[in-house]
Amino acid sequence: MNQSAIHRLLGGKRLENPKKTDLLPLFEKRLAANLSLIQELFFSLYPNQTYGMAFEELLALMAKLFKRRPEDLKIQDLQRLGEGNWYQRGQWIGMQLYVDRFCGDLKGLEEKLPYLEKLGINFLHLMPLTKRPKGQNDGGYAVNSYTEIDPVFGTDADLTLLTKKFREKGICLMLDFVVNHTSDEYPWALSAKKGNPEFQQYYYTYADRTIPDLFEVSLPEVFPETSPGNFTYDADMQRWVMTVFNHYQWDLNYTNPEVFMAMLENLVELSNKGVDVIRFDALAFLWKRIGTDSQNLPEAHRLISLFRMCLQVVAPGAVILAEAIVSPQQIVRYFGEGIYQGNECELAYNATYMACLWDSIATKKTRLLYRSLETIPAKPKMCTWVNYVRCHDDIGLGFDDRNIAELGWNPGDHRRFLLDYYCQRLEWSPAKGAVFMYNPLTGDGRITGSTASLLGLEKALEEKDSKGIDQALDKILLLYGSILAFPGIPLVYAGDEIAMLNDYSYLTDPAKADDSRWVNRPVHDWEAVSNLRKRSLPSSRVFQKLKKLIALRKEIDVLTDTGNLRLLDSGNEHLLVFERHSEGGAGLLLVGNFDENPQVLNASWLESLGYLNKKGNKNLVNGKTLDLNSGLLEVSPYDLLWLLKV
Ligand code: GLC
Ligand code: GLC
Repeated sequence: MNQSAIHRLLGGKRLENPKKTDLLPLFEKRLAANLSLIQELFFSLYPNQTYGMAFEELLALMAKLFKRRPEDLKIQDLQRLGEGNWYQRGQWIGMQLYVDRFCGDLKGLEEKLPYLEKLGINFLHLMPLTKRPKGQNDGGYAVNSYTEIDPVFGTDADLTLLTKKFREKGICLMLDFVVNHTSDEYPWALSAKKGNPEFQQYYYTYADRTIPDLFEVSLPEVFPETSPGNFTYDADMQRWVMTVFNHYQWDLNYTNPEVFMAMLENLVELSNKGVDVIRFDALAFLWKRIGTDSQNLPEAHRLISLFRMCLQVVAPGAVILAEAIVSPQQIVRYFGEGIYQGNECELAYNATYMACLWDSIATKKTRLLYRSLETIPAKPKMCTWVNYVRCHDDIGLGFDDRNIAELGWNPGDHRRFLLDYYCQRLEWSPAKGAVFMYNPLTGDGRITGSTASLLGLEKALEEKDSKGIDQALDKILLLYGSILAFPGIPLVYAGDEIAMLNDYSYLTDPAKADDSRWVNRPVHDWEAVSNLRKRSLPSSRVFQKLKKLIALRKEIDVLTDTGNLRLLDSGNEHLLVFERHSEGGAGLLLVGNFDENPQVLNASWLESLGYLNKKGNKNLVNGKTLDLNSGLLEVSPYDLLWLLKV
């Protein structure tokens, strides 16, 4: 629904202090505005005549859910609709963290807010907080409840108090909605195990292997080492159940409209806790069809859009982030296409940019990065990226093979090189990572490790190599500077701000030992934080510089995403150069050197772009005036430049 439509709906009223009576007709108005799209989406997924009843149920459900939405959130919904694309403000700086590993529990998090504020963080992605099985639970991505807080983190009331506090302080909260699967202990799964046929229909369950075998022909494996295959035999139920991720994560069967409605209720309940951004976990997998890889299917898109449109009626202040770690061409489709453009997810992880930054570090060249950015279809104006360097998962090599081949590289060899470079198979590489989920059948593998360890800090510290330490820290800043200047919301992975290394302690915990992603899920190093005043420590050096970059980012208006990115070809394959510009002529230029040798840029080129005049210019990152020699600007190894138009 666009802005003018909203204003029309509210009779052009100012939205600052809406009264209770203003809120009552909102449901009907929003429903009327979105009904035809909702109907179309619903019947395209559930066409059978008998589903006519289900649609009536959906309408009744939405009305019930709207009534349950707390009044302060209803008002916030209105304010946000009035403000427009609030999530595109340049001010947001995110951090992703595990509450238990960062600070213990939700109460503890409140005490740590000053630390986060000091760094400039005002957007938090808290990793799953709700009830989960004891032992293996995929870091909470196997859910026993979508809404009840696990006692490890505190109580439901603790979260409500915290979100109130966040709202007062203007902190945006993102939580996960694990939309593709529940744990095998979820109440529906328990009923299915007891033989209840209704709940067996909530999942993909089969009496024998006939259909599972048909699916397996074309289904890839997500966790081939620890959870091979996509089906698990459940002895209690005496049936096979689809488990695309771990064997204890049961895929929900969205061909059943009851599942959609029950999950919509869970979604709204979650947003009613004061969640601003809802991370749709593994959403590419939502619809399955025999004969396909069951990822990115058109029905999955329609289903997500249906969730979005129902949310638009009930809780329009909440937006959706797509966790679609898929190929570059596929990711943008989660912003919605055709008539659904802008009616699917407002945000998506920029997994392509992330993977290409790591490619650039390993190859010391930005060629694949350029090629990939140039070939990604444009995103809709009202949508934006969440940019990140590392997250809690592995780094997938999600490039488009055609792009690799067009550079004259062999895609298979190139991927192998990246695994070798990051996973300690090359003597000369400074990286200390590990291979995640190697699949000998396909030769596919992914990479795990902390930012600092992958960039060489761990090895350099072990070898007491001070130059190596400096370079690793420069690389951390180079990558973070590259996401901070890119359009979208930058997300810092907790621990990266103090250059935390790999954490090998997971190997002694049987519930974690077989999942090497835990190497990059460290317990926060508060000792390093208490030593931030000791400026020469690597942790302090990164913290101070990142803090400065974050503060700069917030001051520079052109860094707000208005569709204002211009990728520039400097003619030097080691450099990343892009500009963010405004219609009024303002601009910020980023120059990053991904090579271990100094590189040069033509000063007259910078001048023609407006970033240089007779007096030179200052690099905002370190405050130094650019040093020009014989018409050339020298960019030091791994240096990051942010230049304002002069
Ligand atoms: C997402 C999560 C990942 C999890 C998977 C299954 O990809 O980021 O950690 O293992 O979904 O829920
Ligand atoms: C799958 C998901 C991705 C996630 C990964 C977990 O590849 O698509 O989202 O990162 O599993 O390792």
